[in-house]
Amino acid sequence: MAAVAASAAALSLVLSACAAGSTPGDKPSLRTHEDVTVYTWWASGVEKQGLDKLAEVFEQQHPGITFVNDGVMGGGGSSTSKEYLQTRLETQDPPDTFAAHAGAELDDYIEGGFIQDLTPLYKKLGLKEVFPKSLMDQLKTQDGKIYSVPSNIHRANLLWANPAVLEKHGLDTSGQYEDLDSFIADLETLKQAGVEYPLSVANEWPQVHLLETVLLGELGAEAYDGLWDGTTDWNGPEVTAALEDYKQLLSFSNPTRNEMEWDAASTMVVEGKSAFNIMGDWALPVYAAEGRQYGKDYVVVPSPGTNGVFDFLADSFTMSTGILDEDAARAWLETVSSKEGQLEFNRIKGSIPARTDVDPGQFNEYQKTAFESFNNDPIVSSVAHGAAVPVSQLTKITAAAVAFEKDGDVAKLQAALAASAG
Ligand code: GAL
Repeated sequence: MAAVAASAAALSLVLSACAAGSTPGDKPSLRTHEDVTVYTWWASGVEKQGLDKLAEVFEQQHPGITFVNDGVMGGGGSSTSKEYLQTRLETQDPPDTFAAHAGAELDDYIEGGFIQDLTPLYKKLGLKEVFPKSLMDQLKTQDGKIYSVPSNIHRANLLWANPAVLEKHGLDTSGQYEDLDSFIADLETLKQAGVEYPLSVANEWPQVHLLETVLLGELGAEAYDGLWDGTTDWNGPEVTAALEDYKQLLSFSNPTRNEMEWDAASTMVVEGKSAFNIMGDWALPVYAAEGRQYGKDYVVVPSPGTNGVFDFLADSFTMSTGILDEDAARAWLETVSSKEGQLEFNRIKGSIPARTDVDPGQFNEYQKTAFESFNNDPIVSSVAHGAAVPVSQLTKITAAAVAFEKDGDVAKLQAALAASAG
């Protein structure tokens, strides 16, 4: 757990970051036995709209219990929002339930005794039968227990493009790239033609996100998986080549990247300031807003070199230990897992339901491609979003990416990534 222990400085950063989204210090006084306090980092913009919808379904399904939004700002569960949560857990002031990612991210919380075994709830609600096997494999620990309830399935390996910018410069408007080399060639063309920052990039975790899609695009699904289970050598030449590509991609991006949140980088593409951004499908509401059309005003396709692979993550809700009212927390988890909850939430969030019995016909054109890929393609785990590695390892990977953004030293990045697994 040491790697995510909060420092006072980090905590004060989070508290100031909270100002716009919530006032965590006030929350305990709101508690009654009829409340459920729910922690997420979906505190603003399109993400908050999804959470609000889920809360609405909850209050319809459980009218006796009040939903209390106990979250903070921090897209992607940024290190500050994770540190804030960690402090709450360590000071015995847990939210009743918090959003994390299905997969290795939960390991540290389980090991620390901060979250409860939900296997009995799975039995009671019959959930083992409604989630796909590939997801159940992610959710189960080695001893067969389950500690979270997934609200969705997001795809991480997506390239978003503005076709008008591509057309203007005589490029293929489909955004499809078989490999990173052809993508880099088009970035070069755009730059030469005066598009200053053809690829938009945002701060910290979005850089890890970009890096993961480049590793996947260069290595392929099997070798990418091997990075997280130890069967692919971090020091090999394919990894070096991927990191060189990653360095080039950063060189085509906006120098403001460290001050920019992920959604502002998406907006750069919407506004035609950049041609491309690589981001998960939670970006969909940014592109699809105000009547803009899929395939016409924006395109979204697998990121370069990753066609036919689904880079997976799932926002998954836990139940904390030491809470006042476990029944209220279970009621929230029931809504999260319900057909209606999954339908309403995911229609807004850009993801697809984790349940297999929700009608794909109720979702938009992009989401239909996600259903199709998730059901047919090999699935790999996202590192930036907690599916592939525990929080402690991701913290090291993020630190390596942050340092690389400044020094551009490929050998040093490769060594730091290799060491992160140890
Ligand atoms: C991911 C999360 C998504 C979305 C995104 C940006 O980690 O799974 O639901 O919140 O971060 O904040």
